[in-house]
Parts: sequence; structure tokens; C-alpha cells
Amino acid sequence: MDNTVTVIDNRTEKQYTFPVTRGTIRAMDLRKIKVDAEDFGLMSYDPAFTNTASCQSKITFIDGDKGILRYRGYDIADLAEHCTFPQVAYLVIHGELPTPEQEAEWLTAIRIHMGIFENIKKFMEGFRYDAHPMGMLVSTMAALSTFYPESKEVRNHDRQMESIHRMVGKVPIIAAYGYRHSKGLDYIAPEPQLGYAENFMHMLWDRSPLQHLKHPVLARALDVLFILHIDHEQNCSTNAMRSVGSSEADPFLSAAAATAGLAGPLHGGANEAVLKMLDEIGSKENIPEFIKGVKEGHQKLMGFGHRVYKNYDPRAKMIKKTADEVFEITGRNKKIDLAMELERIALTDDYFVSRKLYPNVDYYSGIIYEAMGFEPKMFTVLFAIPRAVGWLAQWQELINDPEQKIARPRQVYVGHEYRKLPDSYARGTGSEERLASAR
Ligand code: CMC
Repeated sequence: MDNTVTVIDNRTEKQYTFPVTRGTIRAMDLRKIKVDAEDFGLMSYDPAFTNTASCQSKITFIDGDKGILRYRGYDIADLAEHCTFPQVAYLVIHGELPTPEQEAEWLTAIRIHMGIFENIKKFMEGFRYDAHPMGMLVSTMAALSTFYPESKEVRNHDRQMESIHRMVGKVPIIAAYGYRHSKGLDYIAPEPQLGYAENFMHMLWDRSPLQHLKHPVLARALDVLFILHIDHEQNCSTNAMRSVGSSEADPFLSAAAATAGLAGPLHGGANEAVLKMLDEIGSKENIPEFIKGVKEGHQKLMGFGHRVYKNYDPRAKMIKKTADEVFEITGRNKKIDLAMELERIALTDDYFVSRKLYPNVDYYSGIIYEAMGFEPKMFTVLFAIPRAVGWLAQWQELINDPEQKIARPRQVYVGHEYRKLPDSYARGTGSEERLASAR
């Protein structure tokens, strides 16, 4: 087979042949298509990047039609069943699962960074009691940049790894302290020798009325949920991480931008929105009316649909499975029955079937999180903690990729042609009149 594509430009009747590599043509090849020497050349117009690959990546593979998700070639279900979060985090960052020695080194490197400066605690105390935990996380992540100026040496491999260990160690602390702050509780120092999820729960629940939630089964469930959320290739937040990272901003600033991207209800904020939606629906009798509203375009069925999956999101399947283990400890969260009925009705309705809208990762996660004692405001933070690992792996891949440059999309300008300033504005700068109008 000839791995090329031939394009005929009907404006000039010229023919162009471009190589096809892994199902893509180089967008820059299109620029060779010109009507004359003065012409800038053809561009593709792709709002929201629906059909544009911005990088080559070895981290995550998704087949959206078949519902497949793999990290570094391993199926997500196998990883979630047999590995711990730190092991999978190592895999995502380093490309291979760790040997026991590598795992011990990795854990030590992260544990060394499990602590935050007193000034950061003070910084966090400046937030109002009702500040959204994602706002606190975004800001504190950016603030870390000021504490670690050496992280700006983004091209230095040792510095890259130091920032990675540092961020993986500190994100759960910031997340837990954000929660404690909102409850008016004192901060609990990390216990680095505990498991990663276990330590997070310790920092959240210790010396609080929710002590009983420090349960090994719940810690393992959270560990699995963390694994499922580590990476998902070029989504909105990862694209933010890469885009900001491409300017050689340090990884803490880039991760702050990525965290901000995750906060939106169309992305990581959807888990919180699902719970709100279920509360509004209230009971099964109200589902048909709600579905009618969705079909009429009044609202979305939150937790449904995905840019890439046109099949059941494999993460949603596993989250549903994990729910049973959690409910054995916490008791059944009644919202799951409502959610399952809503899913059943939606998946028999032509509106959702014809658009291939299935439950995504956020549909069931909030229900489990709620059963585990988390408030809806915390759900997206629970997404951000593991996703930081994915962002860092993607950032490191970007920085070390010789083909990458500062991200800078093109635009199609559709504004005014040249216009003269109105006379009232064209009196020259510095005149008394201009100064007066500026006052
Ligand atoms: N409820 C109702 N209709 C929907 C939904 C939904 N949740 N999602 C998509 N549609 C409709 C949409 O209106 C459009 O219909 P039409 O063809 O008649 O205009 C069609 O399905 C295609 O949707 P789209 O908006 O072109 O799809 P997209 O790829 O731009 O958006 C999405 C993907 C995830 C933003 C969207 O499905 C959505 O808003 N879902 C609800 C929010 C959500 O659950 N987000 C979490 C995503 S997964 C985890 C993550 O990224 O963090």
C-alpha cells in the first residue's frame, strides 16, 4: 500500500502528494497548497481540536469505539485489579512497572517531599471558610512555584524528576489541608509510611468526627479510583499542561493551569455536577420529565457523553464494581439506584443511543465518593490528585520531545478590515483633552 494521500486543489488544478504516518498528515504540508506565490498556504480549521493530533505520545492509548484504555500498553482493568497507585504512577512516569527496588526508591523519593512549608499553610489560611477546594488547589499549586524556583530549570532531567516527586508528594497534602481549612479543623501532618491513599485519608479524617472512614477497604477503593484517573491522553487539562509547559513555565505553574482546566463542569467538575443533578431529580418518578428536558436542550445529562468514547467508558464500569465493595462498609448510597435507573432509561432512548452517549468516568464516581464521606465540593480534587501524575508524565514527554515548540495555534481572522479611528479619538496623544478624558 502506498502510504500517501493525494489532494487536488480545484482552484489551481494542481495536485499534491503527502506522506501518511500513523493515520496522520503533517498540517504543515497543507501550507504547500497555494493559489500563488503570495498566498500564505492552506490551513485546517479545527475549533476544539476535534481532529487534530498535537503530539506523539507513548503514555495512554484509548480506543473510544471499543471502550479500551491502556497506560503504557497495560489494560486499565488489569492495573486497577493488581497494582497500587504508586506502582501505576511509576509506570506512567517511567514507562515500565517498577521492580521492588525501583518501587522502594520511588516511594522514598515521594515521601521525602511529603511536607509543606509553614508559609504555605499560612497562605491557605487566607482563604475564606467556604472557598471552593479546586480554587484553593489551583492557587496553592501556583504558589508552590515561588517556593521552588529551581523547578524553572525545566530542561534539566534531575530537576524534572525532583519536581515530579515533589508534586506527587505534596498534592494530597494541599488537598487535605484545603478540606480541613473549610471545616475549621487543625491540619494533620502526613504519615508518609502509610499507603498513598491511606495517608490522604489520615490527613483528612484524623481528629475529626469522620475518624471511622479511615478504613483499609475504603483506602484500597480510593487507591483504585486514583489509578483509574491517572491519565486520559489529550483532554482539556492535559492540553493546558502541555500548552503552558511549552512556554517553559515551571511545572507547578503549568499544573496550576491544568488544575484550572479540570475544574470546569464539562471536564473534572462533572462528578460534582452529577450529584447535584441527582439531588435535583430526587426520585425515580421524576426521571422521564428530566430526560424530556435534556432532549429539549434545557440541560445535559451530566456524567454522560465523551469526546473520545463512543461506547461505555471502561473506567465507569470499574467504578460501578468498586461501589459494591464500598457500600459493604458504608451502607448503600441510595443515589446509586436512582443513577442506575437513569442510566437504564437513557440507554433505551434513541436520543442517547443515536449519539452514542454512555456513562463516563464521572457518572458513578461521585456516588462512591459521597458514600466514602466526601462532600461534592471535594470530588474534583479527588480527580486532580492522581491526574497530577498524568500531567507530569505528559509535561516531561513534551519537554523532552525535540519536535515540540511553544504551542501557538493559528486563527482565521473574521473581524473588521482596516478602519480609521473616529475623529473624536484621533486628536493625538498627550493633548489636554485626551488626558482629561482618561481621568
Ligand atoms: N447530555 C445530553 N446531550 C449530550 C450530552 C449530555 N451529557 N453530551 C453530548 N450531548 C449531545 C450534544 O448536545 C450533541 O447533540 P447534537 O448532535 O444534537 O447537537 C451531541 O450529543 C454531541 O455532543 P458534543 O457536545 O458535540 O460532544 P463533545 O465531544 O463536544 O462533548 C462532553 C463531550 C463530555 C463535553 C459532553 O458529552 C458533555 O458535556 N457531557 C456532560 C459533561 C460530562 O459528563 N463531562 C465529563 C467528561 S468525562 C471526564 C472528563 O473529561 O473529565
